[in-house]
Amino acid sequence: MSERNRVVERLDELGRIGRYEHGIDRPLASSQERQARALFASWARASEFSIAQDVVGNLFARRDGSDPTRKPILVGSHLDTVKTGGAYDGAYGVVGALCALELLQARGTATTHPIEAVAWAGEEGSRFPLGCLGSSVFTGLCAASYALDLTDEDGVTLRAALAAPQTGLLDLPLRANADVAGYLELHVEQGPILEDAGVVLGVVTAIAGQRRLRAIVDGVSGHAGTVPMAMRADALCAASELVLALERAAREQGDAVATVGRTIVEPNGTNVVPGRVTFSLDLRSPDDAKLDAIEAAFARAVEDVEKRRGVSIGIESFEKRPPTPMTPMLRDAIHRAIASLGQRALDVPSGAGHDAMSLGKVVPTAMLFVPSIGGRSHVTQERTADADLVLGVDALAAAIVQADATLSER
Ligand code: HGY
Ligand code: MN
Ligand code: MN
Repeated sequence: MSERNRVVERLDELGRIGRYEHGIDRPLASSQERQARALFASWARASEFSIAQDVVGNLFARRDGSDPTRKPILVGSHLDTVKTGGAYDGAYGVVGALCALELLQARGTATTHPIEAVAWAGEEGSRFPLGCLGSSVFTGLCAASYALDLTDEDGVTLRAALAAPQTGLLDLPLRANADVAGYLELHVEQGPILEDAGVVLGVVTAIAGQRRLRAIVDGVSGHAGTVPMAMRADALCAASELVLALERAAREQGDAVATVGRTIVEPNGTNVVPGRVTFSLDLRSPDDAKLDAIEAAFARAVEDVEKRRGVSIGIESFEKRPPTPMTPMLRDAIHRAIASLGQRALDVPSGAGHDAMSLGKVVPTAMLFVPSIGGRSHVTQERTADADLVLGVDALAAAIVQADATLSER
């Protein structure tokens, strides 16, 4: 495998794990996600990096630095996917981190800090209701016990899933502590900005604030043929008004996005008036005040629909992350690295969330983007040009060296 194409070939191999007709499905603590973790560990072992994990399944492949007293710089992303995931979201940052470490190894480039390539567990929150689960536990933003007690839709706890041989932890030592000096993450942009600008390398300015809520609309179920329209409390009609109210609120705010990606209609029969509808809300903006305004507008719509339609509506917030600015000194380090390759860079915001939101709360953190073709992601059509994937790894290796020098001055 050539040095330069190693990232492409590894992504192809990883992309076959969990692939089905609608994309790639690798939820945390599933057998396919465990396979992906095992593959990462086998690559790291072949490169003679020491491997460790923690209690929620985060993996750490370590290359020692010249000063063993220094805390490590972590470089990584996530291996889990959304239900219809592509081959690059998360996986590219994990494979890229390992490949960058191997490039430094092959060149004999020493760093002062130990460097660890990391595969974070459960960034998507697609199975257990917490995004950035692994990095939130690692950074202390959430207790391991809270995360392990989370249940999926079948009532399976993360604790039980990680205890089962097919889906659980690997046979690896536990990482001794949560020491970290700084964090870099390589990721596909998942949006159109770099492609539209014709620039391959992006340096992230900030990650948008994001909020995840759940709404439960309770109406009155009944016979679709006999309940008079004037007497109905149809939960799906009420929910439909709220879905459009959320969209309207985000459009009116500007520089904000919101969507309802998931609905559960009960009893979900073609000839039964829906009695209950549960739906998700996903709100994002670089400006927290706009998210407050969208939530306030939605609350007003809830009150109005309850009164007019005789339904009762409960709203539960289960994730609230403010915007995360990236650390200027590490953003500068990435810019220096890109300049050293004779490449152009573009400062770009991230509308997508990343584990860098967790690390950015506790240590200096920065992100490096490469373009997504058509700006598409979270779909099977997700794609990045091979040459851009390779250049991103070269830039990441150079950024690690720059970040190591910057953090060594502290
Ligand atoms: O939802 C996000 O932005 C990320 O992909 N978890
Ligand atoms: Mn994602
Ligand atoms: Mn991601």
